[in-house]
Amino acid sequence: MQVEDKTLVLLQPLNLTVAAGESIAIVGSSGSGKTTLLSILAGLDLPSSGQVYLKNQPLHQFNEEQRSQVRAQHVGFIFQQFLLINSLTALENVMLPAELANMPDAQARGEALLAQVGLADRMEHYPSQLSGGEQQRVAIARAFIAKPDILFADEPTGNLDSKTGQHIIDLIFDLNVKEGTTLVLVTHDAKLAARCQRQVEMDSGALTEPLIETALANTDENQADSQTTSHDDLESKTSVSQVG
Ligand SMILES: Nc1ncnc2c1ncn2[C@@H]1O[C@H](COP(=O)(O)OP(=O)(O)OP(=O)(O)O)[C@@H](O)[C@H]1O
Ligand SMILES: [Mg+2]
Repeated sequence: MQVEDKTLVLLQPLNLTVAAGESIAIVGSSGSGKTTLLSILAGLDLPSSGQVYLKNQPLHQFNEEQRSQVRAQHVGFIFQQFLLINSLTALENVMLPAELANMPDAQARGEALLAQVGLADRMEHYPSQLSGGEQQRVAIARAFIAKPDILFADEPTGNLDSKTGQHIIDLIFDLNVKEGTTLVLVTHDAKLAARCQRQVEMDSGALTEPLIETALANTDENQADSQTTSHDDLESKTSVSQVG
């Protein structure tokens, strides 16, 4: 990344493979690169080098339009800053991805999801009229509505009290069990990380132990290897060397 003529290296060479239906927690200190990695895995950002496959599709070769199609079809994303649209009500925010995907029952699903996250009586409120935790729950309902194959969530319980947080965690793992949704969760919440099948840690832009799979991908040879790996059963595979 270029900031005032300086190149900032945000991620070190890393390999990460997430299988379909798996749940994985990414933990690590503030500024270690978790959000950056999540954005790349979801096709929101492009790495300056390396490869990212999502549902076998090479996101690193796609333009913004193509990546947004992949996201609309397969990805739910809960942003750390929620990113709700201020001019839309809670219900309209939640319905938006379903409408973009031409789902016929957008409104009924949106209402049901808002009820599930405890906001049945706040559907017509605008984001500015909601507390941080309520906005976070709207963002969670929005991420669920289009039945994503993969849910990327950046601190999904960061603004919730422990009881509400536990309820949201249960909802997220219900989705994993009932719909087979793959979960990639960034979290400081030990309870949430422990519920995931595996945990990886980011440290200064690098993935560190405890790791199931990591490799130094800083040679062309290694990059070619990962490219030829069969990933029929993989949801998201990334080999990223640097974001710039
Ligand atoms: N747009 C940007 N311009 C310059 N630097 C950035 C930008 N976005 C992120 N960074 C830097 O990249 C590094 C990693 O940021 P990132 O947001 O991925 O961290 P994080 O692990 O998600 O942290 P947190 O736990 O606080 O959310 C930080 O040093 C941050 O300052
Ligand atoms: Mg972050």
